[in-house]
Amino acid sequence: MKISRTADLWWKNAVVYCLDVETFQDGNGDGIGDFRGLTQRIDHLDRLGVTCIWLMPFYPTPDRDDGYDITDFYGVDPRLGTHGDVVEFLRTARDRGIRVIADLVVNHTSDQHPWFKEARRSRNSKYRDWYVWADKPPKDGPKGVIFPDKEKGLWTYDRKTRQYYLHRFYRHQPDLNITNPEVRDEIARIMGFWTELGLSGFRVDAVPFMLETTGQADAVKLPDPHDYLADLRAFLDRRGEQAILLGEVNLPYPDAMEFFGDEAPELTLSFDFPGMQAMYLGLARGDARPLAATLRERPLPPKDGHWATFVRNHDELTLDKLSEAEKQEVFAAFGPEEDMRLYDRGLRRRLPPMLGGDLPRVKMVYSLLFALPGTPVLFYGEEIGMGENLAEEARAAVRTPMQWRPGPGAGFSTADPKTFPARLAEGEFGPDRVNVASQRNDADSLLSWIRLLVERYRETPELAFGDVEVLDAGADAVLAHRASVDGRAVVTVHNFAGTEADCTIAGLPDGVWHDLLDDGDTEVTGGEMTLRLPPYGCRWLRSDGARRSPV
Ligand code: NOJ
Ligand code: CA
Repeated sequence: MKISRTADLWWKNAVVYCLDVETFQDGNGDGIGDFRGLTQRIDHLDRLGVTCIWLMPFYPTPDRDDGYDITDFYGVDPRLGTHGDVVEFLRTARDRGIRVIADLVVNHTSDQHPWFKEARRSRNSKYRDWYVWADKPPKDGPKGVIFPDKEKGLWTYDRKTRQYYLHRFYRHQPDLNITNPEVRDEIARIMGFWTELGLSGFRVDAVPFMLETTGQADAVKLPDPHDYLADLRAFLDRRGEQAILLGEVNLPYPDAMEFFGDEAPELTLSFDFPGMQAMYLGLARGDARPLAATLRERPLPPKDGHWATFVRNHDELTLDKLSEAEKQEVFAAFGPEEDMRLYDRGLRRRLPPMLGGDLPRVKMVYSLLFALPGTPVLFYGEEIGMGENLAEEARAAVRTPMQWRPGPGAGFSTADPKTFPARLAEGEFGPDRVNVASQRNDADSLLSWIRLLVERYRETPELAFGDVEVLDAGADAVLAHRASVDGRAVVTVHNFAGTEADCTIAGLPDGVWHDLLDDGDTEVTGGEMTLRLPPYGCRWLRSDGARRSPV
């Protein structure tokens, strides 16, 4: 397998782009996105500079949780295409030097999965022990309902076999039992299958829940579930060519760190949920300090690992790591209406509408995404500033079809929009106002800005590989950080406020510092850099003399 645009540790300066095949591009005119359509659109991603596509679940599914409820881990949802279409897509991506990873959702299956159907037939079924059963929900079992609008508990009674089964998520998503070695072998086989077809790894869904065995009588069979995650990683390292595990671990930093592995490596990348939430608190306040403080306390991942940073994803913008008062501040700023909020912990919105469509502010946020340490992960449509459609249910509000062109089908499909998997966004953020075609050749568009950021980020290895220090900028609204590697340094500054900000950064080598995003130089004398930033302004500066006088 030859992947040209990638190298050793490719994930550390990757540009990951998450998309759902179903909503990206319809290739056969039936109103549903598919692999053929996606393959035709790869050059958009290539031009953007994407180096890794993350496919949301594309497996056969009754689709009661947008594909996160799977009935065949080895299959392809027939609405989206065939294995042949997947292979053509993988080959086309590889030709552009783009790697592909996909969701691995093995905490649970759909209740329509043949394994579960068989498991619930009788207590003696061969598959009975593939799921977690109990006569009574155990008192010391797992806690916390994730979708409180639909579920009251984590256990559902199965009348026929008179036992309860565990489901961390919806009741139609029974949890697999990883204390059963057959289940563990099967999960490895699934990973082996897709790696063999050309995937470069997986985004692992709900990692802490997948590993959880508390309260299970047979937990003794797997005393430390982390051993299992380390085994999966070792398996992938043997089978894949530099394949990765990108984990969904929404926990405070000290707990999240455990999933990088201690004695043996586990996850390669882990989403930075606390950092993301601190950023929104800072945006709501026009104050960079919450993010600066969070970055200062954020532990360093193991040498070859990295945090994965993001602005938005396909779920609600969760604010569960903020205090109640902080969460209310973010709600007041970005979700003033009840309908914009979800489960009392998050927002079902995309960034640009939350920021009132203020382009300089939106651009500053994406500059942060690429400048700060961590592998940036984009959610489709972010590159053009798509908005949400609140008429869609719950999290589906942010999963509307990709907007390629103005017009009724937005270039997504020629079919009647009524047949689309979700309604298009409307109004100010709908396809007539926000689309790829009109931003492509507009130098001031968000798309052009993000292309520039990606290009500079890829050219500036200090940002991805460097030692990082959050600096004192002398202004509460400004986040400043320095990333240095081999004596070269880059300093970035971001103004969170809608007013001008004067900042002064001390302790830098004298000389000329070049602006990497714009024309213009800044002189550092007496070790001090003084900058006046416009409202929501941002700069990336590289020291000219840094090679000669290491920082
Ligand atoms: C996390 C995914 O991000 C979410 O979309 C899904 O509903 C749950 N896991 C259940 O698989
Ligand atoms: Ca289709």
